[in-house]
Amino acid sequence: MKALVLSGGKGTRLRPLTFTCAKQLIPVANKPILGYVLDQVAATGIREVGVITAPETGQYVKDYVNNGSKWNITVTYIPQEPLGLAHAVKTARPFLSQDSFVMCLGDNVTGQGLGTFVEKFRREKLDALIILKEVDDPSNFGIAQLDENGNIIRLVEKPKSPMGNLAIIGTYVFSSKIHKAIERIKHSWRGELEITDAIQEMLNMGFKVKAEILKSWWLDTGKKDDILSANAKILDEYIQRDIKGTVIGGIVDGRVRVETDAKITNSTVRGPCIIGKGTLIENSFIGPYTSVGDNSQIINSNLQYCVILENVIIKDVEHLEDSLIGKNAKLTKNQRNRTVKLHIGDFSEVEL
Ligand code: G1P
Repeated sequence: MKALVLSGGKGTRLRPLTFTCAKQLIPVANKPILGYVLDQVAATGIREVGVITAPETGQYVKDYVNNGSKWNITVTYIPQEPLGLAHAVKTARPFLSQDSFVMCLGDNVTGQGLGTFVEKFRREKLDALIILKEVDDPSNFGIAQLDENGNIIRLVEKPKSPMGNLAIIGTYVFSSKIHKAIERIKHSWRGELEITDAIQEMLNMGFKVKAEILKSWWLDTGKKDDILSANAKILDEYIQRDIKGTVIGGIVDGRVRVETDAKITNSTVRGPCIIGKGTLIENSFIGPYTSVGDNSQIINSNLQYCVILENVIIKDVEHLEDSLIGKNAKLTKNQRNRTVKLHIGDFSEVEL
């Protein structure tokens, strides 16, 4: 079995961060989300991994994943114009050959890993296994309608009048029969070859397609608030207390990871949170569910429930919450008057 990890797309919902980074590389607890996806792929024992990349951000993905040795996998890069998930499978056909494969979206993570799905697919000799999770906004996803025994009745991509709230999450297992179905589908209204349509076509063709409802959490980190909740979830589940840097004065409370060469002086840091390498926290309060990237400086400021990337300076900011701050950003307070002065990138969002 092989794996196909989709790391393309334009990341428009995460601009401006995605002008200089692929959306799959936005860090959660200071590690790119794609890193968690590859951890889970490697844990299944699959060694041959195809990584789909987009022309705009492919190089960033290559710089991070490299030859895959960090995960003990071999990586084949497959460039693709973003024309849909089924189009990605079509583009990857020479790599996939006649093998079964797990397909994962590089910006989707679950708390459950992939092992149980691969086992079920093999045990029941399936042609497709899809994973479902209840959502509040079904019009934004591929939706599955099941009968009382859990068999799939039909699948619709982003239905205007949803027939339920079970969304198809970004984890699939397929046999090579998916290629036959993809050959038969047409472009959707958004001009894409939809994987949901291809799986519906597999049902129409009488192939063995099953659905499983996810028991754990699922995070689709395509938007700002999703990154913040993914950060909170990952900090909650994975962060253990580990103080490698220096703490001089103040309190570091609970499950806090302070990386090497980080310095915390006269501050309170409450876990779960992570402070990156070489970062300085001075006269500040860092509240729960905050990740501060490497080589940043937080001075005379209070923040919580934030994701701060690398080389950021935050100074004299009384209260910052629910915020996502990109690399090399500088946030300071003008002490003399109350005028707000901004120098922010295209597509930024500021809530004052
Ligand atoms: C894609 C799929 C959709 C699925 C979703 C999961 O949507 O087309 O069926 O529910 O991923 O994240 P997109 O991200 O392309 O809008």
